[in-house]
Amino acid sequence: MAVALIVAAGFGERLRAGRPKALVELAGRPLVQWSLDVLAAVPAIGQIVVALPPADPVLPRGVHGPAGTLAVAGGKVRSESVSLALAAAGPGDPVVIHDAARPLLTGELVEATLRAVAAEGVDGAVAAAPVTDTIKRARADGVVEATVERSTLWAVQTPQVFRREALERALDVAPAVLAEATDDAWLIERAGGTVVVVAAPRENLKVTTPIDLTVAEALLRRRWRA
Ligand code: C5P
Repeated sequence: MAVALIVAAGFGERLRAGRPKALVELAGRPLVQWSLDVLAAVPAIGQIVVALPPADPVLPRGVHGPAGTLAVAGGKVRSESVSLALAAAGPGDPVVIHDAARPLLTGELVEATLRAVAAEGVDGAVAAAPVTDTIKRARADGVVEATVERSTLWAVQTPQVFRREALERALDVAPAVLAEATDDAWLIERAGGTVVVVAAPRENLKVTTPIDLTVAEALLRRRWRA
């Protein structure tokens, strides 16, 4: 069975909601509850661990997980929250990591990443959407240096699924390295592991600013009506 870690310990300053992002109400429920329910419904997942802000290491009122769901205090940076959640998890392999900030997760996407990581020689599989914008590299003064060929570029999301041993090894690094990681796959890549991308819809967006909350709410309500 797999274990799933939901990282929900960020304060979400850019959302300006006055409370941790994971607990902001979205379409009538706390943000984190949306992905918790999706992961709970995936048959291959045996346990879910949620990393919450350090002051709040129990599932807050209004947030519910299946039996065996654990809440742990997260760390100062995202990878530290991953590390703490993994240390609290029971046995289980592979490890599914998901940002609470992506409430539009679907069971199909989780299943697709689980299938991808099961392939021979693969250490990690990450949900990602092909880049659709034209990408330019510019100097600090704004002058464009290059237009980057986009056909091989992917915008990476979560879920990210890893073989447990590879993830544990990749996380066993100095705190400064953990602080530099904006995703877990990078830690595996720098340790020489093989990571594959799994095509995901752009709809699996990350809630960062108030406008994202509006878009996510509209998409969730549409999904409900469907
Ligand atoms: O800040 P950002 O939007 O990149 O955070 C991505 C995810 O990582 C969020 O779900 C957030 O709650 C989580 N996080 C965490 N611990 C931190 C920082 C972020 O669990 N110290």
